[in-house]
Amino acid sequence: MGHLGAGWLERPEREQVERTDLLIKNLPLKPDSVVADIGAGTGYFAFPVARRLPQGVVLAVDIQQEMLDIISARSLELGVDNVKPILGDIKGADLAVESVDLIYIVDAYHEFSHPLEMGRAMVEALKPDGQLVLIEYRGEDPSVPIKRLHKMTQAQAKAEMAAIGLRWVKTEDFLPQQHFMVFAR
Ligand SMILES: C[S@@+](CC[C@H](N)C(=O)[O-])C[C@H]1O[C@@H](n2cnc3c(N)ncnc32)[C@H](O)[C@@H]1O
Repeated sequence: MGHLGAGWLERPEREQVERTDLLIKNLPLKPDSVVADIGAGTGYFAFPVARRLPQGVVLAVDIQQEMLDIISARSLELGVDNVKPILGDIKGADLAVESVDLIYIVDAYHEFSHPLEMGRAMVEALKPDGQLVLIEYRGEDPSVPIKRLHKMTQAQAKAEMAAIGLRWVKTEDFLPQQHFMVFAR
């Protein structure tokens, strides 16, 4: 999604339609977690997640500088100092080796042009006990009103994560439209 879609990410009905509040509540966070939001967009998730990390940080990674500019402006406006914008590239997230407790990716993995390279870089950045939460619109469910191109099935996700050496832990379907899939190193 181009940065001109920023308004869509921030649409007021999103919380109610997608229950983004539940998504955030169920992320495995500790007060001091180092968390990477890959494909962070406008920071729709990064800011509420950062509020739950009084001693932690959200590394907000995106490949579009325009999105990171939105995040920086919002940090200033809100007086937030634990959301760090990071310019990634299509093959990597520019994160230090074994530095991250949790990676979450919301509606972004399916957009990666180089998923294998991105996947390897993400695994390298995870601490040995780190986890990755992958959120994607359910590809198996025709009633989810999103183009098939922007959805993923569980089988697809599990196969792609297995290819980068991640172990499937669980899939939870408490969200109305998306899979909430947890993987570990
Ligand atoms: C549909 S938006 C989702 C944004 C945010 N996760 C949300 O749910 O509000 C997808 C984002 O992924 C970013 N993106 C695409 N490929 C990427 C990559 N390889 N690394 C980091 N970000 C990427 C895009 O620039 C875009 O901002």
